[in-house]
Amino acid sequence: MCWRVKAQPLHLVLLQVSLLLSLLSSFCCCTLSHSHPARSYYYNYGDDYYSANNNVIIGEEDNEVTGNYYQRYNDNNDNGDHDQLGLRNFMDDGMEQSDALAPSSSGYKIVSVDDYLGSNQDNADHNEAFAKAWKEACFTTGGVFLVPKNKEYKLRPMNFSGPCHAHFNIKILGSIKASEDISEYKPRTHWLVFENLRNFELEGGGTIDGKGHIWWQNSCKINKTKPCQHAPTALTFEGCKNFRVTELRMVNAQQMHLTFQRCANVRAFNLVIIAPGHSPNTDGIHISQTRNIHISNSLIKTGDDCISIVSGSKNIRATDITCGPGHGISIGSLGAGQSKAHVSNVWVNRARLSGTTNGVRIKTWQGGRGYAKNIIFQNILMQNVSNPIIIDQHYCDQQTPCQDMKSSVQVSNVLYKDIKGTSATDIAIKLDCNKGHRCRGIILQNVKLMNQQQQRAKADCHYVNLVHRGTVLPKCFRTT
Ligand SMILES: *[C@@H]1O[C@H](CO)[C@@H](O)[C@H](O)[C@H]1NC(C)=O
Ligand SMILES: *[C@@H]1O[C@H](CO)[C@@H](O)[C@H](O)[C@H]1NC(C)=O
Ligand SMILES: *[C@@H]1O[C@H](CO)[C@@H](O)[C@H](O)[C@H]1NC(C)=O
Repeated sequence: MCWRVKAQPLHLVLLQVSLLLSLLSSFCCCTLSHSHPARSYYYNYGDDYYSANNNVIIGEEDNEVTGNYYQRYNDNNDNGDHDQLGLRNFMDDGMEQSDALAPSSSGYKIVSVDDYLGSNQDNADHNEAFAKAWKEACFTTGGVFLVPKNKEYKLRPMNFSGPCHAHFNIKILGSIKASEDISEYKPRTHWLVFENLRNFELEGGGTIDGKGHIWWQNSCKINKTKPCQHAPTALTFEGCKNFRVTELRMVNAQQMHLTFQRCANVRAFNLVIIAPGHSPNTDGIHISQTRNIHISNSLIKTGDDCISIVSGSKNIRATDITCGPGHGISIGSLGAGQSKAHVSNVWVNRARLSGTTNGVRIKTWQGGRGYAKNIIFQNILMQNVSNPIIIDQHYCDQQTPCQDMKSSVQVSNVLYKDIKGTSATDIAIKLDCNKGHRCRGIILQNVKLMNQQQQRAKADCHYVNLVHRGTVLPKCFRTT
């Protein structure tokens, strides 16, 4: 059976969503209504206020907004009540339906990696012990894979694969350190991978340490005489659904810290991710081809993006994020190698960025296709950020210069609201769009960014259809 989603009050939508989820968890697939191909059946995230793709027409010269998109946004939002947007609960309902977290009727069975260390614990191969414990926990209903508290383990690359039995959970209370022998990483792209798991929780408390120094020294970004090669992502969730990741602490990843790849229905909160500001490409959280993810209450200090959101990702929320040092919160890069990219429905709410090279950024390569649309950056405090607000459609992160190209990923419907603080440079707002595909439906609302001396900063804007609302400092005077 199928559900048709029509415009209707939020509580009905939520009710349907939870019913739908319970159906989906038992039966799986349901074809979507063809009458509203653009609508998300899952959560009505965004549909209410991003009502139609292009009801917004912003005059190129006259700053007039027509259509109901922003109107609805404001009607709903000016009282500060985000519940009405249908956003606050957009993920949590999914989790309520998951098997995880509720004890199975037969209770839990804790499987500690220590039970598999063998008699000579000091010389044990931790990968072997982890693999045996994983197998036991994963194939037991109510199995809990435990890395015990106050202990330290050293791991080579390892994949923890599912699917597992019902009521399976993971607790990492101890500390896991990476092997520093580069030759043990084959392929060099991943260290720890959780793959194909459903309905579970990974609860931290312990620390995951990528021991990245050895990799950073060998990075072409640090030593230009070295070839550019991949270094491993410390922790990857690949193809996982309906899960939570909480209380995890990650330090010094080899390259990226935490990646969600091809995942759906994720809550991640109370995470701490720390690496030095000079460490190359050490993104905090990287979201790729993932739908319905909410990251909240997390502290991220690294050498690259605190959060990066790339193609195939949709319905992304980041709430209460503290970021810096690092490169800020980024959508992209998108469209590298003339690829097609799709990112939509991103809501970054309440973030503090200090000493980062960017604040909130959308970055696309020339020559790409597709879109980045329906994006809100809201309630953001910038402290000494080099490019607090930036759309960079001429992104080029390679050793040779990038060619000028006509095509571009289309950036549209981006709201910057209630953003304050200081810029480390004189240009606080940089909207550098592509001549052939102007950025459309961009709103700056209640934005006040000064330079470090608390003096006026500047805005540098090209090829953007823009409106200013409320107090906006600095303003874009020219938009071509
Ligand atoms: C582990 O998972 C990653 C990501 O899916 C994959 O690229 C890699 O080949 C896997 N390794 C093994 C040994 O299965
Ligand atoms: C950069 O790498 C080269 C070649 O591997 C090495 O000889 C040199 O000492 C390195 N430089 C630094 C600053 O580490
Ligand atoms: C502001 O940022 C700049 C550039 O990153 C840095 O050189 C400077 O020391 C910072 N100032 C303060 C007060 O943190």
